[in-house]
Amino acid sequence: MTESIMPEFIYGTAWKEEDTERLTRLALEAGFRGIDTANQRRHYFEAGVGAAVAQAIGDGLVQRDQLFLQTKFTYKHGQDHRLPYDPNANAATQVRQSFASSLEHLRVESIDSYVLHGPSRRHGLDSTDHEVWHAMEELHAAGKTRFLGISNVALDQLEELWTRAAVRPAFVQNRCFARLGWDRQIRAFCRDKGIVYQGFSLLTANVNELQHPQFRRLVDRIHKTPAQIVFRFALQAGMQILTGTTDADHMREDLDIHGFELTDDDVRLIENIGQT
Ligand SMILES: NC(=O)c1ccc[n+]([C@@H]2O[C@H](COP(=O)([O-])OP(=O)(O)OC[C@H]3O[C@@H](n4cnc5c(N)ncnc54)[C@H](OP(=O)(O)O)[C@@H]3O)[C@@H](O)[C@H]2O)c1
Repeated sequence: MTESIMPEFIYGTAWKEEDTERLTRLALEAGFRGIDTANQRRHYFEAGVGAAVAQAIGDGLVQRDQLFLQTKFTYKHGQDHRLPYDPNANAATQVRQSFASSLEHLRVESIDSYVLHGPSRRHGLDSTDHEVWHAMEELHAAGKTRFLGISNVALDQLEELWTRAAVRPAFVQNRCFARLGWDRQIRAFCRDKGIVYQGFSLLTANVNELQHPQFRRLVDRIHKTPAQIVFRFALQAGMQILTGTTDADHMREDLDIHGFELTDDDVRLIENIGQT
């Protein structure tokens, strides 16, 4: 398997339906090199992502080893009727079937990160979660995925997985609420263990907080857009940033966060904005 890059930004492909291929291509043209999807037809059109990636590689826009491709295994309760596996098979078989179908959709031999979309319940891990993780570890051992990750995870679940897994998660992908200190506890655990924290809904989960007068004053002083300031904050706070914008200008704007830096005070202010 080739070495893969670790981009600062990941382009999220949820909810794009028939526009998935076009928007994924647009994102690659804008400069995104990380792509996040899932074999969950209810919210993602993984085959559309694969078509865009294949075309971009075929055109010479990118090479496979310049891309970070991430997809997910999703339990039946998160799916609609378009399942990527036999619902009557055991969990390990479902993981293998879902993964094989992902490779077909994405038209690649291997991926960079395979993510458990979410544990089977809100707290604690059950035997099915461990069975699924073990099947994911086998894919990792076979060189089919470079890393494993987990999404929508609570701290107790992450601690348990960290303790019990033979192949530990390299990524955590969570919705990042400012009112929870931007997922402060999980981020601290990740930082401590060397896990890369991927934040999503950085804008949409924090609409009220981004109206806060202190944040507005920061925006006025720095002369960047609120989105750029949030993403710059996320970068300086050590996150890998997910954005699923459908707008070409926003794509460029999101990636353009290197011409300025937030002070430590600015970072602290944003980190606490939901708690003031
Ligand atoms: N693991 C999970 O369970 C899970 C759940 C949800 C999402 N995700 C992943 O995270 C990705 C991102 O999802 P998200 O929830 O963060 O929301 P999103 O799909 O990125 O939506 C961002 C929203 O903010 C708007 N926006 C306005 N200005 C923007 C700017 N400058 N840059 C970016 N967006 C701007 C966008 O509108 P425009 O389109 O007009 O820019 C869009 O409506 C998904 O595609 C998916 O890959 C994972």
